[in-house]
Amino acid sequence: MEIKEISQAVIGRLPRYYRYLGDLKDEGVERISSQELSELMKVTASQIRQDFNNFGGFGQQGYGYNVEYLYKEIGKILGLDQTHHFIIIGAGNLGQALGGYLNFERRGFIFSGMFDQNPALIGKEVRGVKVQPMEEMEAFVKNNAVDIAVLTIPKTGAVDVAEKLVSYGIKAIWNFAHVDLNVPEGIQVENVHLSDSLMKLSYNINRYDQLVAENQ
Ligand code: NAI
Repeated sequence: MEIKEISQAVIGRLPRYYRYLGDLKDEGVERISSQELSELMKVTASQIRQDFNNFGGFGQQGYGYNVEYLYKEIGKILGLDQTHHFIIIGAGNLGQALGGYLNFERRGFIFSGMFDQNPALIGKEVRGVKVQPMEEMEAFVKNNAVDIAVLTIPKTGAVDVAEKLVSYGIKAIWNFAHVDLNVPEGIQVENVHLSDSLMKLSYNINRYDQLVAENQ
C-alpha cells in the first residue's frame, strides 16, 4: 500500500476509528458501510471516505467495509502490530496510574521499567515493575530495547531528563510534563495536557449557557 504524507488531523482521528472498529469486531459485526459508521461515530460519511482514501480506501466493495480487515489495517498504520517497550520516569501519582493501566499491553505497549529520583520510592512495585534509581536508567534503556519514555515529572527536570533519554537512544517521548521539549529531528514527542481538554470542556459549558441565555 502506498502511503502519502498524511495530515496529523487524519492521524489524530485514526485511534477513534480503531476503537469503534474494535468494538464492532467484538460484537461480531462483519461489514459496515461508511453511512452506518458515520451514524455510529457522529462524523459525516464523506469525512470517513476521505480519511480512508488517504490509505487507498481500504477496498470498500459491495456492501461496506470488512470490519476485521479495516481494524487490522488501521492498527498496522498506527504501528499497533508491533511491540513497543516503554519506561516511565516519575513514579508519583500520575506515573503509577499510567503504569498500573493494563490496557496498554493489549495495544502492544509493554511497561518495562520505572525510574524516580526519590530514594523513598526505589524498590516500590507497580504492576510487577520495580521503581529504579535514575542512575540505572542509561543501562536499562540500552539493554532492554526501550523505545518510548513516558515523562511524568515536573517541568523543572523534564528538559534535562529528555536530553539524557535521547542520548541513550530513546525514539519517542510521551510527555506529560508541562513544558515543550527541544529534541532533535527524528525523535517523536507527543505532549499530553489533560487540562487542555478540561479547559475546552469549560469553554463549551460557558458557550452553551450563553446560547441558551441568548435564545430566551
Ligand atoms: P507527583 O509529585 O506525585 O510525582 C512526581 C514524581 O516525579 C515524584 O515521585 C518525584 O520524585 C519525581 N521526580 C521529580 N523530578 C524528577 C526528576 N528530575 N527525575 C526523576 N524523577 C523526578 O506528581 P504527579 O501528580 O504524578 O504529576 C507529575 C507531573 O505531571 C507534575 O509535574 C504535573 O504537573 C504533571 N501532570 C501533568 C498532567 C498532564 O495532563 N500533562 C496531568 C497531571 C499531572
